[in-house]
Amino acid sequence: MQRVLIDKISKNVYLLRLNDENTKYFEGLWYIPEGISYNAYVATLPEGVVLFDGWKHVYGELYVETLRQIVDFKDIKYVVVHHTEPDHSGSLKSLFNHVKNATILGHSFAIQLIQVFYGKLAEFRSVNDGEVVKIGKEYAIHFYHVPWLHWPDTVVSFLTGDNVLFTCDVFGSYGIPSKVFYEELTEEEKTKFRWFTQKYFANVIGHYVDWVIKNLEKLSQLNLDVKIIAPGHGPLHKEFNNIVTLYKALGSRKISPGKTIIIYTSMYKFVEDAVRIVVEELSRKGVNYRVYKFTDTYRDPESDIIGDVFDAENIILATSTYESDVFPLAKYIIDLLKMKVPSNKKILVMSVYGWGPVAGRKIMDSLMEKGFQVVGSLELKGSPSMYEEKIRTELNKLIP
Ligand code: FEO
Repeated sequence: MQRVLIDKISKNVYLLRLNDENTKYFEGLWYIPEGISYNAYVATLPEGVVLFDGWKHVYGELYVETLRQIVDFKDIKYVVVHHTEPDHSGSLKSLFNHVKNATILGHSFAIQLIQVFYGKLAEFRSVNDGEVVKIGKEYAIHFYHVPWLHWPDTVVSFLTGDNVLFTCDVFGSYGIPSKVFYEELTEEEKTKFRWFTQKYFANVIGHYVDWVIKNLEKLSQLNLDVKIIAPGHGPLHKEFNNIVTLYKALGSRKISPGKTIIIYTSMYKFVEDAVRIVVEELSRKGVNYRVYKFTDTYRDPESDIIGDVFDAENIILATSTYESDVFPLAKYIIDLLKMKVPSNKKILVMSVYGWGPVAGRKIMDSLMEKGFQVVGSLELKGSPSMYEEKIRTELNKLIP
């Protein structure tokens, strides 16, 4: 895969894309074997050059060298920072080693963050919600605050003339697209990128889901004549139905009816035996289910679990009591579920124990406290094969 891509996407705007296959754990947390791209943009306007976002800090010098191929640094008038997370702002320090007279445009909180992250790099100008910055007579950048997508600093901007809406994390995805625009991808790749968008959304924005619809409605009411949506990660969009529909579904916590996710940890195959009974029963019922596990030979990525469970209707969580508490990996997954996933799910908890049942009650209390509907908590002493009938009965409460 080509690492750096430069592509002219409209009359004046270039995409500068860095395809990052080195980052295995996005934010040091989310496993992404599919990689990620950082999309920076450059508008070469008659009255000056405007940069929109950048790349992760380890690619700072590469960003500068790439930028040098298309602009003279003395022509750079503004650097727009839509959002200060360092996957977009990390190259600012390298940039301002070479650029002397540009002004940084961003939300007042972004400007505070830039100063604490990188020091006083340049002149700053904070932009208010709805503010317009003119670039000569013909062009203007309109700024709109979209708080919590992904941080409180986040703004999107609209470049008139080229009619490009720069959205940073909003509408972004994991993965490295083979083409610039979503519409140019094969059907197979489109399906993959819908999943990568959902996974990115759940991992990164999931905690702030309350803000998604509010911000989408706000943008929609502006009636901007958008020709291109240009996000900070993944493919760009010329037709918006697909991406906006997906975002509205995720933002409104839409459930995929019947979708069932089984998550289990198993130390010595006892829990796995219980899950085998569950899987047989779900297959018999024709349920759409997927299994994620943590065992002595395999671990599924938390990033996929959180992405997949986001729109599920049912969860079956199976684990064991461990040192009079919940098995540590199950505790970790429960914390992530509570942090990132809407609570509009029904959950069946199953826990296996040897000398004392503890995990089931603790998990149930913890999930119910967050608003999940726990339909049952099954404590199984010893081998689950002794409790086949009991497991099937409890499962019927979740999925009749
Ligand atoms: Fe892609 Fe919140 O940074």
